[in-house]
Amino acid sequence: MQTLKDKVILITGANRGIGKSLVKSSLEKGARKIYATSRDLSKMPNFGDERVVTLELDITDNAQILKIAEQTKDVEVLINNAGILSQGNVLEGEISAVENDMKVNYYGTINMMRAFAPTLEKNAPSKIVNIVSIVAYSPLPSLAGYSASKTALYSATLSVRTELVKKGVTVHAINPGAIDTDMNKGSEWDMPAPDGIATIILDKVEAGELDIVPDEMGLGMFNAWKEAPSKLAEMFSNMYHGE
Ligand SMILES: NC(=O)c1ccc[n+]([C@@H]2O[C@H](COP(=O)([O-])OP(=O)(O)OC[C@H]3O[C@@H](n4cnc5c(N)ncnc54)[C@H](OP(=O)(O)O)[C@@H]3O)[C@@H](O)[C@H]2O)c1
Repeated sequence: MQTLKDKVILITGANRGIGKSLVKSSLEKGARKIYATSRDLSKMPNFGDERVVTLELDITDNAQILKIAEQTKDVEVLINNAGILSQGNVLEGEISAVENDMKVNYYGTINMMRAFAPTLEKNAPSKIVNIVSIVAYSPLPSLAGYSASKTALYSATLSVRTELVKKGVTVHAINPGAIDTDMNKGSEWDMPAPDGIATIILDKVEAGELDIVPDEMGLGMFNAWKEAPSKLAEMFSNMYHGE
């Protein structure tokens, strides 16, 4: 088991939701230093621990990514958590919303992996942990742009896993179902809080699991997909049509 104790971890979108919980959980696991990044530092909570170093980072700004990568050459675990979700189907949804989901969730995250790969190779054994989504396995049509961006990200995650496997960098994909964060504001689903989910994610990363579904709802969806991809597609079709 490769634990996170004494590791240097960088987390994107660390000011709220799952990212904020991943910072707290990394502290509990004994990380040596945590670069908690956010596109607006005025929104960053006070984690009350000197091991947390806050940095401004918008993952759609590649110049900023390269600058931060230059300043953080001790990173051993890169957690790509930042993401956005837009509502809308393929046929009638706003194209600009589809583009934005791709810009943040796909291009932003692959630019992070590209910028940090040399550091992670130098500091191996090291890790990339990408927060993807269960919709990487099958699209939820009401979130078509988001689903496409996460499917693209999952594909890139699997590519990079193979590209780095011989270089001592392990690449994990986290595919949650639904977690109780701002992203799901207004939903009536019974969802787990992000703190417990962050701990499950990091426990499974430490255990070396590569494809991680950390919540019950996500697991139900994942198991349906494993039985037959059409089963998950049918579940999502029923949700889309309100059945
Ligand atoms: N919640 C779920 O059910 C669920 C399920 C599957 C996957 N996920 C994934 O989990 C990750 C975290 O989501 P969450 O549920 O914690 O949502 P959230 O509460 O909405 O948090 C999203 C985080 O991403 C940051 N962010 C957005 N665009 C960014 C950019 N361009 N550069 C840097 N940071 C940016 C946000 O910063 P600001 O505060 O500045 O906006 C915020 O910190 C996302 O990748 C999401 O797709 C969530």
